[in-house]
Amino acid sequence: MMNNTGRRGERVFIRTFGCQMNMYDSQFISSALQEIGFIEVDDAQEADIIIVNGCSIRKHAEDRAINWIHRYSRLDNKRIAVIGCLAQNLHDQLREKVEGIDIICGPDNYNELVDIISGSSREMNLPGRKTDVTYSLTDSYRPDRFSGFVSITRGCENFCSYCVVPYLRGKLRSKDPSAVISEILHLEEKGCREITLLGQNVLAYKHGDTGFTELLEMILRESPVERIRFLTSHPRDVRTGLFRIMRDNTRVCPHIHLPLQAGSDRILKLMKRGYSSGEYLRLLEKARDILPGLAVTTDIIVGFPSETEDDFSMTMEAVRSSRFDSAFTFIYSPREGTAAWRFPDEVPLEIKKQRLQRLNQLVMEIRLDILREQIGKRIKILLDGTAQRGENLYFKGRTPHFRNVLLDCGEVKEGDIVEVTLEKLEKFTFIGKCRR
Ligand code: 5AD
Ligand code: SF4
Repeated sequence: MMNNTGRRGERVFIRTFGCQMNMYDSQFISSALQEIGFIEVDDAQEADIIIVNGCSIRKHAEDRAINWIHRYSRLDNKRIAVIGCLAQNLHDQLREKVEGIDIICGPDNYNELVDIISGSSREMNLPGRKTDVTYSLTDSYRPDRFSGFVSITRGCENFCSYCVVPYLRGKLRSKDPSAVISEILHLEEKGCREITLLGQNVLAYKHGDTGFTELLEMILRESPVERIRFLTSHPRDVRTGLFRIMRDNTRVCPHIHLPLQAGSDRILKLMKRGYSSGEYLRLLEKARDILPGLAVTTDIIVGFPSETEDDFSMTMEAVRSSRFDSAFTFIYSPREGTAAWRFPDEVPLEIKKQRLQRLNQLVMEIRLDILREQIGKRIKILLDGTAQRGENLYFKGRTPHFRNVLLDCGEVKEGDIVEVTLEKLEKFTFIGKCRR
């Protein structure tokens, strides 16, 4: 990386859309720019350079980021960089949509991006594809919370028929285990007590002989980090040994995000997911046999091309059986270049919206049921912020199962891990008390 001290003191503002991978990438870019003297600001007006890290997973996500780029482009005297999946997906079209973009850079070119921002070039197009690039946070990275991200894989080779990610983020690559460990140790030293391992499909991690479970065991051996999470997992790659490790090591949080996507086998096949709904349910059953109380969250798409009322009711049935803690639910959004782009998008929008609403209602009922069962339990939570509710300032945190808690206690501070009794629920958030 070029060390250009001429730009020392320049101010950079980064706005991030999309998933945790984009958040991690923004952290990497911020840390690399700070390493060479840039200052990150949290107001776009104050910045010399505005970076918009955009998402392309659904049309709606794209439109949102583009609206913001429009707004930023009206500010005077700023260089504007558009990066992320959005840049990779739309590259030249972005300049047609918004005037005044200086830099366009896809997810494989962030090292060059840092060079360009620190150099004098005003205009740049970097949508190139590399198959080997991974990033690690630099020493300048200062976590602003007690929980940090470490990306362990980049890219995805699953090619689910609806998904644009494999085209934008390229082939799967896995970070060297020693680099993963040193990044975790670095975050730990800077105050993080919880680490989330990130990747489009972390279970596909493979570096030499080290697979995901070996990596997890290595992290448990070689780092003292108190809580470990991981995101996202593909059901096809789950081995039950994973749940034994989770059961035997309480530092690994008893939560898995396991996208189901649909409950109809016909739709799952069209989606190219590689499992049937029966296989998915049996997997959950085995997992919960090994690790009772495991929290499972999921992603579901409604209105996939040709989805009938029968197909949709199979999704509802699978959701009832799976008892998800929560679910991200989406209306299918056709993405150009994917296999499903050519499937006729037959389900009318009104029906898609109704199905989404019915699904959300069910997800909410199950979620409340599960949360109510927890009332009265004592559980350790990591305090990672505060929240104002009416007159009262609460600490907020999450249980190992990734459930939200607000805490009403005296002698605690942010970053503490405290044992609380889950006293009651306010909507989907527990109110916890420290004393018994
Ligand atoms: N339309 C709607 N939802 C999608 N997802 C991915 N691609 C699409 C699409 N084209 C959802 C999936 C995935 C989550 C990150 O986004 O549920 O798991
Ligand atoms: Fe993340 Fe996928 Fe959106 Fe890219 S397209 S930001 S990988 S969710």
